[in-house]
Amino acid sequence: MMGDLFDSVPEPPIAEQLENLKGQLRHHNYRYYVLDDPDVPDAEYDRLFRELQKLEAQHPELLTSDSPTQRVGDQPLSKFDEVVHAIPMLSLGNVFSEKELTDFNQRVIQGLGVDQADYCVEPKLDGLAISLRYEDGKLVQGATRGDGATGENVTQNIRTIQAIPLKLIGNDYPQILEVRGEVFMPKAGFDALNERQREKGEKSFANPRNAAAGSLRQLDPRITTTRPLSFYCYGMGEISDDIALADNHYERLMGLKNWGLPVSSEIQRVNGSEGCLSYYKQIGEKRDALPYEIDGVVYKVNSLSQQDELGFVSRAPRWATAHKFPAQEELTILNDVEWQVGRTGAVTPVARLEPVFVGGVTVTNATLHNMDEIKRKGVMIGDTVIVRRAGDVIPEVVGAVISKRPKTAKEILLPKHCPDPACGADVVRTEGESAARCSGGLSCPAQRKEAIKHFASRKAMDVEGLGDKLVEQLVDAGLVHNPADLFALKLEQLSGMERMGEKSAQNMIDGLDKSRTTTLPRFIFALGIRDVGETTARTLALHFCNLKSIIDSEEEQLIEVPDVGPIVAASIHNFFRQPHNIEVVEQLVNEAKISWPIIEMSDSAIETEYSGKSFVLTGTLSKMSRQQAKELLQSLGAKVVGSVSKKTDYLVAGEAAGSKLTKAESLGITVLSEEDLLAIFNNHQLHVTDS
Ligand code: IVH
Repeated sequence: MMGDLFDSVPEPPIAEQLENLKGQLRHHNYRYYVLDDPDVPDAEYDRLFRELQKLEAQHPELLTSDSPTQRVGDQPLSKFDEVVHAIPMLSLGNVFSEKELTDFNQRVIQGLGVDQADYCVEPKLDGLAISLRYEDGKLVQGATRGDGATGENVTQNIRTIQAIPLKLIGNDYPQILEVRGEVFMPKAGFDALNERQREKGEKSFANPRNAAAGSLRQLDPRITTTRPLSFYCYGMGEISDDIALADNHYERLMGLKNWGLPVSSEIQRVNGSEGCLSYYKQIGEKRDALPYEIDGVVYKVNSLSQQDELGFVSRAPRWATAHKFPAQEELTILNDVEWQVGRTGAVTPVARLEPVFVGGVTVTNATLHNMDEIKRKGVMIGDTVIVRRAGDVIPEVVGAVISKRPKTAKEILLPKHCPDPACGADVVRTEGESAARCSGGLSCPAQRKEAIKHFASRKAMDVEGLGDKLVEQLVDAGLVHNPADLFALKLEQLSGMERMGEKSAQNMIDGLDKSRTTTLPRFIFALGIRDVGETTARTLALHFCNLKSIIDSEEEQLIEVPDVGPIVAASIHNFFRQPHNIEVVEQLVNEAKISWPIIEMSDSAIETEYSGKSFVLTGTLSKMSRQQAKELLQSLGAKVVGSVSKKTDYLVAGEAAGSKLTKAESLGITVLSEEDLLAIFNNHQLHVTDS
């Protein structure tokens, strides 16, 4: 097993120690990157790594190029050499609809003269294709796809990717093994990289694929090693025929896994086009939860002899195709920028776009966040811009295509005055803050409208029958100046409003009535204190148990609340030192008679076995709403989060639970039914009320 250099080693024990350390490190890498199941903490890995480094420094003659310490070379290249691929690297055809998928399947079964075909189905990773060459189990070359026939030799950079083994595991691999797969940048690594780039004042990357390609095509491997790249295999190139391999694609991939090469855990075997389609849907649902970007799925005829039979057409195989998801990024024109005033006065730029179909919907508006972001993205009015919409995330302008910039493009300027013509107060920007704000305060109708909309919104006071448009009308008509005024409205006043019948007026009065009984966290959240979201409102309520104590608190006492820092404490303190705000709160409690059960709050401040535990709710609950389940869990001290991860403690699965349930099961997370959840609530004397 020992490598070439070891033949003349005079001290076998050291050589053995070295080999043993390298073996352990390889094993831990395999557990981490291939099995996604490390069996030692990172610190133990680091300790072994340093021990190996130390021994190697003492015995430089024993250093081998496949040692885990030898990933980063220190010589930048002047250019990449060419690599001629022994077997060309092909591309894939595409299908975009169910019909095109069934047509593809039809061609396959006709071509083979069979009734049904079996497929290996895989996620289509959004990175760049790479060919790795192993000789006698050692990584000797890494090359990009290039034009399919000739690529670039990026071995130095490939070696810096921790997920790629420098040496294969076991001894049953072919003497020559070319592995094909995708180098990609996981979403979290991409975000962190862009954050770092911004801090350094360097260019950020538009998406993980560009970041992966840019990182791999660095001439200096010391830069590549700082980039969070990863790798999954999806096929093979040249293989020496000294070892018998499986006769189908799926099992060959699993074989690669046994040799220490990472393979996506989403790969499956399915039958026919129905199987392919259900996989497409299943992965589509999971797409946003996956830690890396995918742009579709790939269907491959599983049997290798059937693949041979079908062969190729031009440069794509007849036995495989990609089924793309609707694109999450598209190009469109930035027609204009409008400025919106939020409830705390923040003046936010909103891009008005030429309508574009992206991420499955037509997008006409997208946020531009603030002036810093506009500057960073370098966009101008009239530019062709990249618009991104991933999952349920708010559409975003990612950047501009500078080469398409028209001469008439206009710079985006922060308005000097509040964009609400009825206000017109100065717009100011405080040093160190990205947001610009209207200085009009409560005299600004735009701010008042937003504050009232927020007060009535679903997660705040949840006033049914009071939509955004109606709030705007009520403020414009001078009938409502603050949230407390809502409760003084008379039926006659309302039914006189534009497009407002008696019935909807009555609905709104009923909605207001019903909202009078609420919870302390909802009430605090509804006040719209700057920096106080749902979670902070809840922690404040749990900490102080009553409103008066919060109002009377000094900043030092507020800082004692978990998760409240000096900025948030100052916002809260400041809010309750404004006589006007106190007036509105008093009106709400004394005149509008808004109330919340006090007992419930003090009870829930008690520590429970669920305090600090993380819950995810999925599927349909029949005996309570998600919001109710969430609030009751929170009153037990639990956190309710949106997506399943290793940190999740419990998953509550209602009817028709989908990908979150699958993920929770695969992570070994405790799964509770709705009945289990009700039992937990009952044990804590918590009851689901009709909402
Ligand atoms: S197979 C002969 N499988 O998609 C088949 N490609 O559009 C060759 N890709 O260049 C490719 N995930 O960069 C295959 N599971 C997957 C893939 C995949 C991503 C990329 C690859 C290829 C491109 C073709």
